[in-house]
Amino acid sequence: MKKRKAIVAGNWKMNKTVAEAIALAQEIKRDLADFRDVDVVLCPPFTALKAVGDVVSGTHIDLGAQNMHWEKSGAFTGEVSPGMLRDLFCHYVILGHSERRQYFGETDAIVNKKAKAALASNLKPIVCVGETLQERESGRMAHVVETQVRGSLAGLSARELVETIIAYEPVWAIGTGKTATSAQAQEVHALIRGVIQIMADETVAQSVRIQYGGSVKASNARELFSQPDIDGGLIGGAALEARSFIDIVRAGV
Ligand code: PGA
Repeated sequence: MKKRKAIVAGNWKMNKTVAEAIALAQEIKRDLADFRDVDVVLCPPFTALKAVGDVVSGTHIDLGAQNMHWEKSGAFTGEVSPGMLRDLFCHYVILGHSERRQYFGETDAIVNKKAKAALASNLKPIVCVGETLQERESGRMAHVVETQVRGSLAGLSARELVETIIAYEPVWAIGTGKTATSAQAQEVHALIRGVIQIMADETVAQSVRIQYGGSVKASNARELFSQPDIDGGLIGGAALEARSFIDIVRAGV
């Protein structure tokens, strides 16, 4: 029995119209509304946050966003603030996803500002880290992941670290159908927990939840989630269909 409760989040990325998002959320809610054994988070695109929030309101399913700006308000065309997300009853926000790092130039310093802003607004950040295939093959995986963890979470207090969720997502496994083996994933999760222990202490390190992400499916979720340092998952493709997402959530028990 693990000390930490698993958390499974669906990252819907740039998918689903409002009507489609409502239908998916309703199907998930029908099955999981009273399910308390795993924390469940739905992260639709900004445009569907309100509608999905209305569907899951009053259930144990939480709402999350996929990105945000670190400032409270101002002249930042196209951006959304932490307070705006709280206004829609978001409790989580994904930060520093590898697609944000790759296509939108997000650095560890930017992710760090966003993580601090999220925590200051009572949003739990889901901070993503992970190496590319080239980094892994050239033996730099541990260095890259440690640098991302330290940079993205720099200056967070022990209390803030415990509120933070880390998602280890090897870039080579995202949307490729190539999952890390449970042993490969466990190795990196243990490494991340070790970095948190150095940054804070043993109690904090043992409390922080670390999700795995990258081609998680109903067929491989249980094996991944049963590893000692894997506390659930961040799910992309398989979260777009209710049945597979529900099966993955239930694998977190
Ligand atoms: P995937 O995406 O499950 O489609 O590989 C995971 C993610 O990018 O969060």
